[in-house]
Amino acid sequence: MGLKPLLEMRFPVQGNDFIQAGEASSRIKRTLQQIGMESSLVRRAAIASYEAEMNIVIHAYHGELVLTIWPNLIEIVAADVGPGISDVALAMQEGYSTAPESVRQMGFGAGMGLPNMQKCADELLVETKVGEGTRVVIKINL
Ligand SMILES: Nc1ncnc2c1ncn2[C@@H]1O[C@H](COP(=O)(O)OP(=O)(O)OP(=O)(O)O)[C@@H](O)[C@H]1O
Ligand SMILES: [Mg+2]
Repeated sequence: MGLKPLLEMRFPVQGNDFIQAGEASSRIKRTLQQIGMESSLVRRAAIASYEAEMNIVIHAYHGELVLTIWPNLIEIVAADVGPGISDVALAMQEGYSTAPESVRQMGFGAGMGLPNMQKCADELLVETKVGEGTRVVIKINL
């Protein structure tokens, strides 16, 4: 990355709050549109942000999305305090989900969030510690 960020914004995310859910990623999308980012990049960033936000809502206690615009990339970090992920390779597989029945009834829990993030990102990093939390880094090249 090297150079200085052009913009950095932080958006808190509350676990289990399905009323506010989607707000942080909506703000990220709006911000990117307002600064005139190309629509295909906005779309990828918005989808990946939404999936990351919902994973905090569904699987963690609380966290935040941090949007940073670098001269050469859009970076979205989703960091949470939560149970962490014991097997990241398994979690990355399409269809794998530990979402409870109550969450599935709301239409979540298809096990497609992380695979979707992978598709939208040029680079995806998942750092996690069981019993502590998870940090997902989404990078989209400009
Ligand atoms: N932030 C997180 N904290 C703890 N576990 C997580 C987190 N994100 C993902 N996981 C684990 O990885 C699994 C797969 O995540 P993924 O987003 O692909 O699917 P999902 O959230 O279960 O369903 P969907 O995203 O399709 O609604 C989850 O079911 C959960 O076990
Ligand atoms: Mg998910």
